[in-house]
Amino acid sequence: MTNIIEEQIKKISRMLADAKHAVVFTGSGISAESGIPTFRGTDGLWLRYNPEEVASIYGFKRNPAKFWEFAKELIVKTKASPNPAHYAIAELEKEGVVKAVITQNIDMLHQNAGSKKVLELHGSMSYVDCLDCGAEYEWEYIERVLEEKQPLCEKCKSDLLKPRVVFFGEPLPPDVLSEAMEEAKRCDLFIVVGSSLVVYPAASLPDMAKRSGAKLAMVNLEPTEKDHTFDAIVYGRAGEIMPRIVEEFKRLRYG
Ligand code: APR
Ligand code: ZN
Repeated sequence: MTNIIEEQIKKISRMLADAKHAVVFTGSGISAESGIPTFRGTDGLWLRYNPEEVASIYGFKRNPAKFWEFAKELIVKTKASPNPAHYAIAELEKEGVVKAVITQNIDMLHQNAGSKKVLELHGSMSYVDCLDCGAEYEWEYIERVLEEKQPLCEKCKSDLLKPRVVFFGEPLPPDVLSEAMEEAKRCDLFIVVGSSLVVYPAASLPDMAKRSGAKLAMVNLEPTEKDHTFDAIVYGRAGEIMPRIVEEFKRLRYG
C-alpha cells in the first residue's frame, strides 16, 4: 500500500481511538466485493438500466416485470455473503466505538456480518408486499420463485408484488430517517464507506454530522463531490482498507 494510504489509515484509526460515538454510513460500494453490482462508477447498474423504469414507484406500477428482471441481477445475489469490510464494521461495534451503521443498501449484509444496530434508510429485501391485497411474503420464498418466473400474489394473482425497499419517488421510512439524523447529530466521528453521496436525503447526513461538530472520514474507491468536506479519505477497496483500519485501531487501543 502506498504510504499516503497507510498514513490516512493511521489517521482514521486514531480518529476512531479518540471517538466516543462513531457512526458508519455505507453505500453499494461496501457490497461490491461481495459480488453485488454498484449503481454508479465503473460498470454501475445505472449505465445498463434506467432507474426511472426499474427503481421508481411509477415504473414499477407500470411494468413490475422490468423491475424483477433488474432485481435478478441486483438482489438474487442476497445469497452473497458479507466481505471483510462488513466484518470490520461489526468488530468496531463489538469494540464499543461504532454505535450504529446507517446503510443505503438493501442486501442485509451488515446484519449477516453481525452488526446489531443497522438503520436501513432504503429498506431491505426481507419482505415483499402485494400492493393489491396486502398479502406479505418472506424474501426466501420470493427468491425461490424468482429463479423460475416473475412472482405473482398467491391470493389475488396480482403482479404488483413490491419488496419493502424505497423506490425513487417514495419517502424514506420516517422513523429510520429521524433516528439516522439523530445519530448524525450526536456522533463525534462519521465514517462513509462505499457511497457516491449523490442521493438525498441520505447524502445530507455527512453534512449534518459535520455541522454538529463531528469529524468526517471516508473509504471509497473513487472521489466524490463531497471529498473537500472530509478530514481523512482513503481511496481504495473497502474489503482491503477496513480490516487494516481495525488492525491499526486495535494496536492503538491495546498496544
Ligand atoms: N470499495 C469501496 N468503494 C467502492 C468499491 C469498493 N470495493 N466499489 C465501488 N466503490 C465506490 C464507488 O466508487 C462509488 O463512489 O462506491 C460508490 C458507490 O456509489 P453508488 O453506486 O452511487 O452507490 P450508493 O452511493 O449506495 O447509491 C445511493 O442510489 O440508486 C440509488 O437507492 C440506490 O441506495 C442507492 C443510492
Ligand atoms: Zn394479492
